[in-house]
Amino acid sequence: MANYQSIEHDVLVIGAGGAGIRAAIEAAEMGANVGLICKSLLGKAHTVMAEGGMAAALGNVESRDNWKVHFRDTMRGGKMLNNWRMAQLHAQEAPDRANELESYGAVFDRTPDGRILQRNFGGHLYPRLAHVGDRTGLEMIRTLQDKAVHTPGLQVHMECTIYKLLVNDGRVCGAVGYWRQTGEFVVYKAKAVVLATGGIGKSFKVTSNSWEYTGDGHAMAYLAGADLIDMEFIQFHPTGMMWPLSVKGILVTEGVRGEGGVLRNNKGERFMFKYVPEQFKKDYADTEDEARRWLDGDKTARRPPELLTRDVVARAINAEVKAGRGSPHGGAFLDIAAARSPDYIKRKLPSMYHQFKELAQVDITKDAMEVGPTTHYIMGGVRVHPETAESTVPGIFAAGEAAGGMHGANRLGGNSLSDLLVFGRRAGMGAANYAKNLKSAPALSQADVDATLKEMTAPLDRVDGENPYTIAQDLQELMQTHIGIIREEKEMQEGLEKLLKLKERASRVASNGTRAYNPGWNQALDLRAMLTCSEAIARAAIERKESRGGHTRNDYPDYDKELSKVNFLIKKTSSGEMGIRKEPLPQMPAELQELFKGESNATSQS
Ligand code: FUM
Repeated sequence: MANYQSIEHDVLVIGAGGAGIRAAIEAAEMGANVGLICKSLLGKAHTVMAEGGMAAALGNVESRDNWKVHFRDTMRGGKMLNNWRMAQLHAQEAPDRANELESYGAVFDRTPDGRILQRNFGGHLYPRLAHVGDRTGLEMIRTLQDKAVHTPGLQVHMECTIYKLLVNDGRVCGAVGYWRQTGEFVVYKAKAVVLATGGIGKSFKVTSNSWEYTGDGHAMAYLAGADLIDMEFIQFHPTGMMWPLSVKGILVTEGVRGEGGVLRNNKGERFMFKYVPEQFKKDYADTEDEARRWLDGDKTARRPPELLTRDVVARAINAEVKAGRGSPHGGAFLDIAAARSPDYIKRKLPSMYHQFKELAQVDITKDAMEVGPTTHYIMGGVRVHPETAESTVPGIFAAGEAAGGMHGANRLGGNSLSDLLVFGRRAGMGAANYAKNLKSAPALSQADVDATLKEMTAPLDRVDGENPYTIAQDLQELMQTHIGIIREEKEMQEGLEKLLKLKERASRVASNGTRAYNPGWNQALDLRAMLTCSEAIARAAIERKESRGGHTRNDYPDYDKELSKVNFLIKKTSSGEMGIRKEPLPQMPAELQELFKGESNATSQS
């Protein structure tokens, strides 16, 4: 049997984006011995792709803002499928987390009187996003990273991929992985594990996500027996780059629209006015003149329709393209030059300015950007307890994009950065408490370790077999085509069949060479998580026979009253199949239901 290195921690945090680092800091400050695993290097995390800001009802720019308004916006944005308690905790605690980040050293943009500046974003009633130009996620990671390396009891393990969680006697006891450079195996013994591995975007062809985003945490939790929730809900961010092809999918921050950017079709029409849903007409402008007045600070004017939630904007762009009014490469034009001066654009959107200048040779202070939907985020994830972030398997915790429930059917932009901090902290706390209260450290099963190492070595032992890159590419094509932005029963069923065949092919995957510096082998191992998550997405999407949030069905274009009362849960059955069941939403207390009085469409709980 292969050799391996053994490392022991009280709490093992897998994933070093915002949620993982914040969890690790909390657990270490509570006295736990913490290991923080990065799949790549510390500081390189998808958190940086939340560019436009962190939502928190600080009330610095609009004094009418408070946690209740933020809570209501979040629930409305999630089409009322959110776990209400998570959304409440998030709205209540986000301001403290923003201030705390500042106390760690984050340098936010300021109001004229020196407070944290806040900008507009889709679905947020008031300017709510604390931001650092269009580099907010980067500032968050930079700040947390600095705090983490100065926190005693916290050890960082870089370029390490975790492949499997070890469970003994029904609770977690460790994890098995490998060092990406040498290919050496490593077995972590741990009392508690926090999954903060981010999302699943690499299973789609067009995505804003980077290579690490293969759904490792979602899949490992599922395989360890945990529930997944809301897996049908994928967020297609309306504005990814369209051209050149080599950069297709890279994010164009919603901050562009927050700062006044408008969307036009190939006829020059500002088409979003046509797509305002009936129930939101009271909040959104219906003329260019009114939208302009809002931008100029007229508080009696309604908001521009470009600030509708992402699901609505992405579908609108899609519809324009289908009607033959798309941009040359199949998207829409996003124009900020007409609304703001070159100086303002360079100051508030410096990354966008450079991104387009360097990658597409477009000067956004003069010309419009070509943009279109890109797979950005999965609302679904590991089902967790709202207070502790513990999953349904004792000792396994999850936070950030790896966890589900907080965002329901659609996440509001800016709510991910605050989610990372609110629930990263809670997961760190939950895991440290759990580890402290364990009577004895759980034992590893040597047989499990040996079997896992054998499974991981298998692709290298096959002489002939399937190419891992071909399978990954086929999967991306399949998910984009069959389970993409607009869905239909027949297409999805075909997609699921193809997916099951791909799984079969993946069981024969082979990679040449040794374990050292072998990206082909790394890709072969990532396939298991990518395929598991994709199957969960497909199965849940087929079951939800309605359109809601990020899940749009051609064959069921409306909300379904009964389905507005349930989440779909995915769990491995005793025979190893992927099981799916409906779970009633937790009952929202009367005082919170009051906030939605009279909203028949959104009130799934009344
Ligand atoms: O558009 C953006 O800046 C992304 C933000 C987010 O996903 O929260």
